[in-house]
Amino acid sequence: MEELETILKNNRQWADRIEKEKPDFFPKLAKGQKPRYLWIGCSDSRVPSNVIAGLEPGDMFVHRNIANVVNNNDLNILSVMEYAIRVLKVRSVLVCGHYGCGGVKAAMENHPHGMVDNWLRPIKEVYQENRKEVDRIEDEESRINRLVELNVKKQVERVANSTIVQDAWADGQQLSVHGLVYSLENGHLTDLKISKIDRSGTPEIFHVSE
Ligand code: CO
Repeated sequence: MEELETILKNNRQWADRIEKEKPDFFPKLAKGQKPRYLWIGCSDSRVPSNVIAGLEPGDMFVHRNIANVVNNNDLNILSVMEYAIRVLKVRSVLVCGHYGCGGVKAAMENHPHGMVDNWLRPIKEVYQENRKEVDRIEDEESRINRLVELNVKKQVERVANSTIVQDAWADGQQLSVHGLVYSLENGHLTDLKISKIDRSGTPEIFHVSE
């Protein structure tokens, strides 16, 4: 029970502190949310979205899974994206990978890891598509880190090509999709500069029109 007690104690201290500093914080948030960001990141405990982005509760809608994969048959992420983009009308989608990602490392290996091998299959495909470039890198850690970046790029494309984002852009909704990578070594977020700000940056086959 010690783990739970720690959490409950921390929580009460945190809530008391916020209430003292900003008495209207909780009553205001209780009325509703208007986040500006949707975060799609890795489940890794070392990459807590709000903390590393320096944001408060209410600022960011969050979806995390192993190795930040965007699957267009994943009801979970599709529901999150639809709600965040079409209902809450977030302005930015941030796809964030992180160097040293265990999921990406596992996707580069041939030995079995369990269920997760099915989940990581799209990353194996990204690896296969970029095999020449990645395998040319001598150091293993750097090879993993390059695939981390390529995976973010692929998932940014999947978000941008999704029917949800394409519909939003077709309706003239202002929305940008960004690719970021986080360093566990120094806590820095880096913009991979692969942002998509409208459908002109996406292949025509994904465009939707009436
Ligand atoms: Co990870």
